[in-house]
Amino acid sequence: MADENTFYSGASGAGTTVPVAVWGTGNMGRAAIRSVAAHPGLELSAVITSSPEKAGRDAGDLADLGRDLGVLTTTDVDAALGGARAVAYMASGDIRPDAALEDVARCLRAGRAVVTPALYALYDHRSAPDEVTAPLLDAAKQGASAFFASGVDPGWGNDVLPVLLSGLAGTVEEVRCQEIFDYSTYDQPDSVRFLVGMGEAMDYEPPMVAAGVPTMVWGGQVRMIARALGVELDEIRETLERRPLDTDVTNGMGLFGAGTQGALRFEVQGLVAGEPRIVVEHVTRIDPGCAPDWPVPPDGGAGAHRVVIEGRPRIEVSLEATDEGGNRAAGGNATAANRLVNAIPWLTTVEPGLYDGLDVPLSPAHGRIGRSTS
Ligand SMILES: NC(=O)c1ccc[n+]([C@@H]2O[C@H](COP(=O)([O-])OP(=O)(O)OC[C@H]3O[C@@H](n4cnc5c(N)ncnc54)[C@H](OP(=O)(O)O)[C@@H]3O)[C@@H](O)[C@H]2O)c1
Repeated sequence: MADENTFYSGASGAGTTVPVAVWGTGNMGRAAIRSVAAHPGLELSAVITSSPEKAGRDAGDLADLGRDLGVLTTTDVDAALGGARAVAYMASGDIRPDAALEDVARCLRAGRAVVTPALYALYDHRSAPDEVTAPLLDAAKQGASAFFASGVDPGWGNDVLPVLLSGLAGTVEEVRCQEIFDYSTYDQPDSVRFLVGMGEAMDYEPPMVAAGVPTMVWGGQVRMIARALGVELDEIRETLERRPLDTDVTNGMGLFGAGTQGALRFEVQGLVAGEPRIVVEHVTRIDPGCAPDWPVPPDGGAGAHRVVIEGRPRIEVSLEATDEGGNRAAGGNATAANRLVNAIPWLTTVEPGLYDGLDVPLSPAHGRIGRSTS
């Protein structure tokens, strides 16, 4: 599609800056604060928190920048939105989707461009249900504002990156996007145990991979790749395998007992003429020793995002990002926050509406070489 995804280097530093409010101060919020601070075309105007105990802290301190930014976190949403032109909405959406949708609609109605990783149903807004898109489209129209939802995986790891690489391909048999992660350093015990099922009995059904859920979260990414490659999908299918731990393992989240779930592997497959041709695959472990025959990060580290295009030539790209003291999960979150925040200048120039990972051009790190923020 001729109008999809080139590069955008505009509005980055020359003259005026876009005031941005970061909403939410968890993993993604911290990364978004650093992202705005690093961008010469943006200016951090506010940080919104729902926690009174975090209010009044300097954003630089909260985001571990090693310096103050002169912006104190606030619980006053109206005041924070008042001084912003755009909002990086980084509060949770998975556990509170209706509230997150209403927050985002409020920002759009007020005329603020919004980027967020929190609303999975809107990553591929073209196939999202009307009840999710209609309120946002109304709000965007009312406020003449633009919206972009994305992340890493789902996100750039299975939209813009494979599509970019397909431009280097000849014949293509299969496009495979993999997330390979060891969750032992992922400091979210509830998600790791109850959502993903690590350390739970093998007859426990982890909600993250309950039938239909992977397609709900990653199916849109498969559809976006198909759209870019100009193929019709017959259907989207899921596969799932799980492995128990051979021995007890202990990490920062406590004991994960022998015989409980130690690894899972699932695929969301886009079928073309009956064959899986576009595949999003996750290989997730709680210990590197579990399921050693499954794919591992090429450098032996704790996590990687990889795209493999089977064909002639065969193309493989693996990306390992680290942040917050060498942590791979934090590195992935930082790339997701940067993809979103870097889109803000472009979003302030476009027609009101909803945009996805193939609509929004990549913004190179224009003007950022040697521009240290810490
Ligand atoms: N696709 C991807 O690649 C990707 C990657 C990472 C995350 N995500 C998504 O991005 C979102 C944020 O993830 P995260 O890792 O940053 O989560 P997190 O570390 O748990 O932070 C979420 C933040 O949301 C705010 N929050 C929580 N409950 C709230 C409530 N009831 N009302 C208002 N704010 C509330 C809190 O910030 P305050 O205490 O400051 O209010 C909290 O720190 C999630 O929806 C997650 O699924 C997507």
